[in-house]
Amino acid sequence: MAIYEKSYISIDESIAQQVGYPYPTPKLTFDFPPHLIETCMVHGRPWVHRGETLARFANEFDLRVIVELGVWRGETFERLLEQCPAAKVYGIDRWAPAPEAAAGAPEDWAEWPHEDHLAKVQAIASGHPGRAHVFRMETVTAAALFNTCSVDMVFVDADHSYNGVISDIDAWLPKIRSGGWIFGHDIDWTTVRAAVHDRLGYDLEYGMDALWAWKVP
Ligand SMILES: C[S@@+](CC[C@H](N)C(=O)[O-])C[C@H]1O[C@@H](n2cnc3c(N)ncnc32)[C@H](O)[C@@H]1O
Repeated sequence: MAIYEKSYISIDESIAQQVGYPYPTPKLTFDFPPHLIETCMVHGRPWVHRGETLARFANEFDLRVIVELGVWRGETFERLLEQCPAAKVYGIDRWAPAPEAAAGAPEDWAEWPHEDHLAKVQAIASGHPGRAHVFRMETVTAAALFNTCSVDMVFVDADHSYNGVISDIDAWLPKIRSGGWIFGHDIDWTTVRAAVHDRLGYDLEYGMDALWAWKVP
């Protein structure tokens, strides 16, 4: 049976076809320690939720100030809080449809039950007093609330348009300390991939659940 090997991930061919593996492999500038990513089965498919990877990564490298851009209903936010007991986690989301200015973005978020999502995230946060912080605002605006080099990890997962990802990287990169990490979701989107390429170069690793990652020099 053919096995696709991609750095640390091995999955059999039939499953690989179902999930579209292997992705094209970019030039790597770092390796995730193998134990940080484990293949698991979810609904019959191998998959590791982005939050699991981020939490393991944060624990491995002692990343204690974590910002998630685009929280949605808290799937990643909750995992980070539960699995990283030493970390403060800041979740930023507008929880509203995209404004007119964002017309042309790949998603306008118009149909989503944002108030329900916010309520769910606030409930999650209430279980972690002092460590969970929720900001209902634009991701770029929120960057002004953080000092330069004060953040250990940023997870970019809000506006997936090219300009949206560029704006988030530009606003948040200066907030991450040297040796910290910027992660993002959906590198398999053309818009996301182009923005990450143009800002950070294509020397990126990404694993299951279409994560991208870059270590701040
Ligand atoms: C894909 S979901 C985030 C998923 C979440 N990170 C997770 O891992 O489960 C994107 C979220 O980003 C929010 N969003 C999009 N653009 C935004 C912006 N410019 N400022 C704040 N929130 C934004 C949307 O409201 C939506 O809830």
